Amino acid sequence: MAPRLSLLLSLVAASTLVSSPPAVAAPLPGCRVPSKLAGGQPTDTAFSISEDTPDSLPFVTRNGTTLLVDGSPFHFAGFNNYYMPTYAADENLNERTQDVDVVFAESEQLGLTVLRTWAFADGPQWNSIQPNLGQLDERVLSQGLDYVLAQSCQHGLRVVLTLTNYLTAYGGMQTWVQWFGGTSVLEFYTNPTIVSAFKTYVKTIVNRRNSLTGVLYRDDPTIMAWDLANEPYVLGDASGEILRNWVKDMSAYVKSIDPAHLVMVSSWGYFGKSTPELQPQNPYDLTWRGIGNNAGLYSADPLCKGEDWVAINELDDIDIASVHIYAEFWPVCTADCQFNLNQSAPQMLEVQLGMQGYWAMCSQECKQQFLKNWLRLHFEVAAQRFEKPVVVGEFGAQLPMADRIGIYQAVYDEVLDAATDGLPAAGSMFWILQPATHNDYDGYSIYTDPARYPHDPKPIQPIPSPTVCSGGNATDDFWGAGLYLTCSAGLIETPFNASVDVNTDGWQNVIEMIMEQAAAMTAMSQ
Ligand SMILES: *[C@@H]1O[C@H](CO)[C@@H](O)[C@H](O)[C@H]1NC(C)=O
Ligand SMILES: *[C@@H]1O[C@H](CO)[C@@H](O)[C@H](O)[C@H]1NC(C)=O
Ligand SMILES: *[C@@H]1O[C@H](CO)[C@@H](O)[C@H](O)[C@H]1NC(C)=O
Ligand SMILES: *[C@@H]1O[C@H](CO)[C@@H](O)[C@H](O)[C@H]1NC(C)=O
Repeated sequence: MAPRLSLLLSLVAASTLVSSPPAVAAPLPGCRVPSKLAGGQPTDTAFSISEDTPDSLPFVTRNGTTLLVDGSPFHFAGFNNYYMPTYAADENLNERTQDVDVVFAESEQLGLTVLRTWAFADGPQWNSIQPNLGQLDERVLSQGLDYVLAQSCQHGLRVVLTLTNYLTAYGGMQTWVQWFGGTSVLEFYTNPTIVSAFKTYVKTIVNRRNSLTGVLYRDDPTIMAWDLANEPYVLGDASGEILRNWVKDMSAYVKSIDPAHLVMVSSWGYFGKSTPELQPQNPYDLTWRGIGNNAGLYSADPLCKGEDWVAINELDDIDIASVHIYAEFWPVCTADCQFNLNQSAPQMLEVQLGMQGYWAMCSQECKQQFLKNWLRLHFEVAAQRFEKPVVVGEFGAQLPMADRIGIYQAVYDEVLDAATDGLPAAGSMFWILQPATHNDYDGYSIYTDPARYPHDPKPIQPIPSPTVCSGGNATDDFWGAGLYLTCSAGLIETPFNASVDVNTDGWQNVIEMIMEQAAAMTAMSQ
């Protein structure tokens, strides 16, 4: 990018950040301030616990469809950053200073009020929380997760702590199954020994005493909710009962050891067996799961994923319903748009469209309308069926910034409009706020530093897409049972215009939109 444009963007950035409404007051009122955090730069974990700050920070609670803080509704714009506890635990503190502290400062500048992050890191890896089954690394916990919780409070953030992952990143269910010599992720949900071992882990985290603040996690109002699992699937279980049973058992368990905190599970939002009338609303999902032996396997029909959104969220011990939106993987257009899903022919659809092509070829209006309808439907169903708040736990797009605007706008507008209309829309968390030091490795990064993008241009790659699909069982699949469409990988032409600077065009609009949403949601919370 030309230096001139870079300068222009810097100026836009500076004026945007300065002229926008003031960021949310930080720290949260009543945070317990560890003395060294209060006194300046923390340099190690040997914080002495300050007893002179009152523990008056109120919990986030729920009254029917509304989240409350101190009797007032709580609405938020937030963000995801799963690796903050890992990087905060960097032994020489470089990563903490360059990455984690920067994300905190940026989130405060944007006015964001909720962080969703991982409270797990399983198996042998850098700064693993649990390198071996049942062996937790105290140094990593105290320098990592403890630090992130203490600093979140200082930066005005409530935290959603996710306890495991269906995907293999940072361990998760696959690692649990491997620890017990299993072969299918199905066993994570159904093998009593694994279920029990996972509960032991959860209990240890929930009962942990933060080494920096002295507060037990279960007593810490900085934690907004326990999130049982990230995007859990049970591929092949069209009944949805395996996941529902696991969520029922696990949510009751968490409530039994920590009745003060809200509990949720980060599902996608697919309608299942309990709501046959809603199933036709499901989009097909062509997500390339891309994990080990799974590379190239697509699972198109939401019913094959084992999620029944209503059945999960009407469980007594679930407080918040979650939806995740990566609509660039959903081949949905209305009749007015270029593609109209023939629900009985998913294989043909995959052959024709591949991963992202269809979505890029839909008009902005079509994308926005689909997202709004899909979200509105969930808010209405939540109000009617189980009377609980809904959060958009993840959304984002691997699209050029100019094309992400439509997706951010649709999600933000719909959450705000629905909340204004009295529907149970509590807030949203985009994926992912990155510090300037991190590459845009997954294509979803939001940087507040405009200089970041030109340093790390990420041209849209040709997209692997199926050229031949046939129904069948994925027998070589680690995850076991599956009603997959197995596809051989091919390449399609990228639909994006290579002359457009995919990373910077539209950057400032997205940043402005985030700040406006944060201010609007905070204004609704008073
Ligand atoms: C909870 O909701 C009920 C019914 O909507 C309402 O009457 C009550 O005042 C609410 N309580 C609080 C603490 O907001
Ligand atoms: C939808 O797919 C089915 C099965 O492949 C086919 O018979 C039908 O003609 C298709 N309908 C449309 C409108 O394309
Ligand atoms: C898939 O697996 C099921 C259950 O094991 C079996 O009944 C069915 O024949 C298999 N289908 C194919 C296409 O291999
Ligand atoms: C790609 O973008 C450039 C610059 O905006 C424009 O001149 C060109 O016509 C575009 N090409 C296509 C195929 O849209």
